[in-house]
Amino acid sequence: MKVLITAGPTYERIDPVRFIGNYSTGKMGFAIAETFAANGHDVVLVAGPVQIKSENPRIHRIDVESAAQMYEAVMSEFPKVDGAVLCAAVADFTPITVADKKIKREGDNLVIELKPTQDIAAAVGRAKQPNQFLVGFALETNDEEAHALDKMRRKNLDFIVLNSLKDKNACFGYDTNKVTILKANGEKHEYPLKTKKEVAQDIYDNIML
Ligand code: C5P
Repeated sequence: MKVLITAGPTYERIDPVRFIGNYSTGKMGFAIAETFAANGHDVVLVAGPVQIKSENPRIHRIDVESAAQMYEAVMSEFPKVDGAVLCAAVADFTPITVADKKIKREGDNLVIELKPTQDIAAAVGRAKQPNQFLVGFALETNDEEAHALDKMRRKNLDFIVLNSLKDKNACFGYDTNKVTILKANGEKHEYPLKTKKEVAQDIYDNIML
């Protein structure tokens, strides 16, 4: 198979030296990419700005910075793959204008107006063919399952991997994660705290079933 994986944060530029970002490290997406590659599949890994390296030569990496660049890369690669796992923490908003010079400190408050970015997962969900799979992630702080199920339906995902910020040692930056997989066919699998490598294997197994 050939699979597309997104990983890491996006950076939305404010001026030549500043951006709006988030705490995603890319560890979960890179672990999924390594798992597919280790099992003999070709991987296109669209990565936001991250500090980690991909190791397996079966991983073809496309580095991007912003949500708009990630959207372009994903939409051009998706028709060529058997499915996608969208793990990236894509910015939901981006500045309407990018200052061409460093913004100077002034007395008053600074207001930066933001516009929504494209929802990559939703666009991929609309483009998805019957022979392609699509897996997304949800990070929720409240009413986790209801929100995740709603996202899965809205974005036309086959399943969604839910991580909750309520779980200690899970999520951004940690090497461990605690997930629940909710499937469009109604199945629900709750897993204990595991390493991201083990979670990647669980996600892989659910796709290959
Ligand atoms: O709506 P929310 O951001 O919580 O959905 C999370 C899922 O959607 C993740 O799989 C994430 O990678 C994807 N997503 C995306 N493009 C966006 C926002 C989220 O692909 N602009």
